Amino acid sequence: MHHVNLIIAKDPAEAGRLAADIFQELINAKPDCVLGLATGSTPLPLYRELIQREKDGKLSFAKVRSANLDEYKGLSGDHPQSYRYFMNENLFNHISIDPANTMVPSGLVEDADAMCAAYEAAIEAMGGIDIQLLGIGHDGHIGFNEPCDHFPAATHEVELEEITRQANKRFFNSIDEVPTAAYTMGCGTVMAARKVLLIATGKDKAEIVKQSFFGPVTPMVPASILQFHPDCTVIVDEAAASALK
Ligand code: F6R
Repeated sequence: MHHVNLIIAKDPAEAGRLAADIFQELINAKPDCVLGLATGSTPLPLYRELIQREKDGKLSFAKVRSANLDEYKGLSGDHPQSYRYFMNENLFNHISIDPANTMVPSGLVEDADAMCAAYEAAIEAMGGIDIQLLGIGHDGHIGFNEPCDHFPAATHEVELEEITRQANKRFFNSIDEVPTAAYTMGCGTVMAARKVLLIATGKDKAEIVKQSFFGPVTPMVPASILQFHPDCTVIVDEAAASALK
């Protein structure tokens, strides 16, 4: 039995519009809602759509709050490859959200454990995450929760797998510049969100979509835990759905 609500869109642009519909409905119902946000290529059509919809007066980010999934260890928010920079460039700078209401884990801290604990506490203090947006890695990772022997509970530091570093190296000058560690919400943090929305687009995601949502729930495929979330929507485009019958 699969609890995830699977939606098949024609292409990445339509996936972005369908995801934007879900965000728009939430933001209009709860103007000060807490959005759990993600970086990467997958959310870009959604972010472009949300920017346009606010310009068109369909929603307002003025009171919205946000918490991002993850950040590279060792990169400052000014570094063009940091996730803070990505969020500013691709979303926050173009909407009315108060920068003070946006949280991204800090990549430059002395005490990683304290920062991670404070991040969890800050999410709780905001009343928890109303909707958590996710992409998915080719190995099934969500955030930077990589395949391992357990589902990490809370925000923590992770060493990055080679496959993930290779997948992200296109954003850096060379593989040597790709950080070797990151901070990420845990699978438990994601599961505590009231609603989860995962987007997967492209043929290269087809196999992991099938494994994650139509295979066994196992920490070797971190996204598979979403089968146990009571309100999880998965939006795939036709290419990412191509391994499903
Ligand atoms: C990003 C994140 C990652 C990505 C995943 C897919 O904040 O946490 O888990 O969602 O690596 O990346 P793209 O969308 O670039 O294929």
